[in-house]
Amino acid sequence: QFIVGRLYKGFWLPEPYAPGILAVRRRFTPRPDDVVLTSYPKCGTTWLKALAFAAMARDAYPPVAADHPLRRLNPHACIPFMEDIFTERQEAKLEGLPSPRLINTHTPYSLLPETVTTGGGCKVVYICRDPKDMVVSLYHFLRRLQPDLSFADTFHSVLEGTVPYGPMWDHILGYWHASVARPDRVLFLKYEDLLQNTGEHVRKLAEFMGRPFSAAEEAAGTVASVVELCSFDNMKNLEANKTGATERKYISIAHDAFFRKGVTGDWVNHMSPEMASRLDEIFRDKLRGTVLT
Ligand code: A3P
Repeated sequence: QFIVGRLYKGFWLPEPYAPGILAVRRRFTPRPDDVVLTSYPKCGTTWLKALAFAAMARDAYPPVAADHPLRRLNPHACIPFMEDIFTERQEAKLEGLPSPRLINTHTPYSLLPETVTTGGGCKVVYICRDPKDMVVSLYHFLRRLQPDLSFADTFHSVLEGTVPYGPMWDHILGYWHASVARPDRVLFLKYEDLLQNTGEHVRKLAEFMGRPFSAAEEAAGTVASVVELCSFDNMKNLEANKTGATERKYISIAHDAFFRKGVTGDWVNHMSPEMASRLDEIFRDKLRGTVLT
């Protein structure tokens, strides 16, 4: 059900979320200070949500606070998932959120509402990841929903583009071109860069969202506290993420499914060099003309 969805304007929308994605297009009106956090699934959404929430809400919830929401809640509980809201027709919930709102979606850029992508719109942050690691992460995630799924089948679905929100290369390209055309509105991040220097990217993210860290905060080590609060080891070991589940209309996803290894390069343990070259070759071809590698 999740692998094979509905082909709409060049993208395979997961069947359960297709109505929500289409409704978002028709009905979502952004506030100018909204920040839409977007990603291809399994590319670091949960981490981006945690970092953005911790950075944006740091006055109300200092990252070192023992009762910080991220110590009690899964990051998905802190930021609404647009597809869910619009599938369940709970837009009043979104309206009730105080500004600045953080909202998350996997919707491809070309399918976002025009109210977001044109004019003033609102800010959009995208995170992407090495497709080889995404495939591995996707396989482990989907296998929880579909225990008989094989890695080979997942790999081939990615190659064919028939994965949720796929093809992945068009998903990436949409946001990449948008970030080049509207750099003040669309920030393009990479999971690998975030892992390499999380602090620098938290600063970039906060500045982009309109909440740069002050000199006093820098001196107090607030950036490091945000990084630490949202680190893989910290998040994975929180009770809220070891137990419980995110209830979506059609599925229940155990929280621990969002915290597996949190590294780069795990693909070497899953695919042959031939498979890796094939995937690299396809992405090289599709992303030609950009600086993305
Ligand atoms: P792996 O399966 O490779 O470990 P998403 O949140 O988009 O579903 O992506 C999930 C991937 O992000 C998983 O990758 C998960 O382990 C990783 N991840 C989750 N939280 C993280 C964190 N705080 N730091 C780094 N990686 C994280």
